[in-house]
Parts: sequence; structure tokens; C-alpha cells
Amino acid sequence: MKKILVTGGLGFIGSHTVVELQNEGFDVLIIDNLSNSTIDVLDKITSITTQKPKYFNIDLKSKSAVQHFFKENKVDGVIHFAASKAVGESVEKPLEYYENNICSLIYLLQEMRTNKVVNFIFSSSCTVYGQADELPITENAPIKPAESPYGNTKQIGEEIIKDTSKISDIKAIALRYFNPIGAHESAKIGELPIGVPQNLIPFVTQTAAGIRKELAVFGSDYNTPDGTAIRDYIHVVDLAKAHIVALRRLLENNNKSFFEVFNIGTGKGNSVLEVIQSFEKVTGKKLNYKIVNRREGDITAAYADTTIANNELGWKAKSTLDEALLSAWKWQKTLK
Ligand code: UFG
Repeated sequence: MKKILVTGGLGFIGSHTVVELQNEGFDVLIIDNLSNSTIDVLDKITSITTQKPKYFNIDLKSKSAVQHFFKENKVDGVIHFAASKAVGESVEKPLEYYENNICSLIYLLQEMRTNKVVNFIFSSSCTVYGQADELPITENAPIKPAESPYGNTKQIGEEIIKDTSKISDIKAIALRYFNPIGAHESAKIGELPIGVPQNLIPFVTQTAAGIRKELAVFGSDYNTPDGTAIRDYIHVVDLAKAHIVALRRLLENNNKSFFEVFNIGTGKGNSVLEVIQSFEKVTGKKLNYKIVNRREGDITAAYADTTIANNELGWKAKSTLDEALLSAWKWQKTLK
């Protein structure tokens, strides 16, 4: 049984990936410092899979704690989710973001080298493309200057991993996620935004649940068919499964170079108004919303060309926007 370390394994994408790993027979160890998650997620994972993953409350910014973990635990691979991810907050707290997202990555890679752990999956983001010149976005699209310290940590993170893979035995895959949404079908795990949600779907579900009065649609004057911005919304379970196939690719030595990147999205773009329509249709709930000004830093449109992920990983997103939104709503209802 292969042992896999999942950092940030109690977070939104991490927890769904832990479930898929356990379902596929991997032995999972979780590191999470609970900075943006809660410990009860561990029990929820256990109740879904009937296996309790080993859990370590370790802050990856502590080099000695990371050293200690690797000395005590032999693992076959690492999937690294643990990171701060709020774009706006990163502008306010750049040093915290660089410290948290970059130091932890460096310490992990150093200890992987020391302990001869060679398989590494990294959570990257379509944010590295900024507003791409061509749609859909391929992996070869140029990397644009980052709009935020958060985005920069993903770009720098990829560079650090690429440089490390050149001089070590580490094989790495960076998955560039588009917009992950939805929740596990059991409605036991999902996205837990702390405070006022910054992302569209949690704001939509909280508005429908009566927690928020009104959804603000940021801008209707974009150069898109209905004037609202377009994104590629991918069901988090599909996204979680992409990690399993990427991990197997490394474990089975099927990677074509020591550092590979894949877009992980559905390949389909939907506007904010389409999301609202889809949500209203599948839930039968009317959403209270109004159009307001654009949000600073937002791009017009981003959706993935997933040809390389489809062909190389043999992976394809299965869930529709309707299904993903319904799962997000089922999850929201459990939170009331
Ligand atoms: N939106 C609204 N109202 C809201 C929230 C969002 O209209 O209350 C709109 C945004 O303007 C955007 C779309 O809904 O057009 C999606 O917004 P999200 O905040 O959900 O997602 P983003 O595409 O802005 O951000 C996501 C990730 C980031 C990542 C970024 C990369 O959340 O971590 O993609 O492009 F950096």
C-alpha cells in the first residue's frame, strides 16, 4: 500500500482528494495546521471512507517540524495543497503569503530530497495565465505578470519546483486548477468559507440560504455574450480525481519529463449569469442579485483547453455545472 502525504488535507480540495485516495487504496497521512479548516473534517472523511487517515497538526513554516515528520514517516509521494489562497488578503499581507506559501514548499522539497521521496504533486492555478490572449487556454499560453502576491506564489512555486526537479530525483506535476466548486455527494465535506465568501459559489449558496441578503454580480459590461465574466467551473470531485491519475503517472514512471503541468478544468466557460440561471434551475430557489461595478483585478474570461490532460492523463471532468451547483447547495443546507 503506497503511503501518500497530503498537506492541507483537511481543506476544500485536500479533503476531497483524501477521500478519493483512500477509495483507491492509498494509505493517507494528512498534515494540516487548521488555519483554514476544522478538525471535524477528519471525522467526516472517516465516515465517508470508513478509514481514519493519520493526522498531524504541523505548521509547514516550521522547518524542524517538517524535518521531524519526514524522519518519522516514510512516504511514497506528496500532494501539496497547504497554502493561503485569498487573492484580496494576499494584497494586504504579502509577507505572510510569501512566507506561508513559499517557505513551506521549500522545506517540503528539501526534506523530500533528504529522505529520497521523489513524487510530488503541486496545487497550481489558472491565475498564472492572467487574462490569456487566446481562449481556451493551453498549457503553452504565456505566464503573465501576477496580479496579486497569491498569484505570484503559484508562479514562483512552479519555478522552484522546476528548478529543483532539474538537479534532483524529484518528479513533479503542477496541476493548474480553474474554478473548483461543489461538494462530495455525501454532503459531509465541502467548501467552508470563513467570514464573508469572496468566491462566487459560496456567495450564491449563502444568499439562497438567507445568510446573505443579496449577491452582487461584479460587472455586466465585459466583452462576453451576456456582459458578465466567464470562468471554467470544475466539480471538486473531478478535480480530486485528477490528482490520483497524476500521482499514478509519477508512481508508475509514466511522466515524460521531470516537471509537467496540466490544466485541470472542464473546458467549458460559463458566465456569472449562467451560473445563477443554472443554480435557480436545479434548486428551484430564486436568487436575489443585483449587478454592480466590476471587481478590481478580475479578468474577462478564462477556460481551459484540457486536451493535454485528457490525452496524457486519461482524465476528463465528468460533472456538469448543474450537478456541481446542486452538490454545493446540498452541502450548504447541511451548514444551517
Ligand atoms: N463574482 C461575482 N460576485 C461575487 C463573487 C464573484 O460576481 O460575489 C464573479 C467574479 O467577478 C468572477 C466570477 O464570479 O467573474 C468568479 O469569481 P470567484 O471569486 O469565484 O473566482 P475567481 O475566478 O475570481 O478566482 C479563482 C480562485 C482564485 C484564483 C483565480 C484565478 O478563487 O484562487 O480563480 O483566476 F486565483
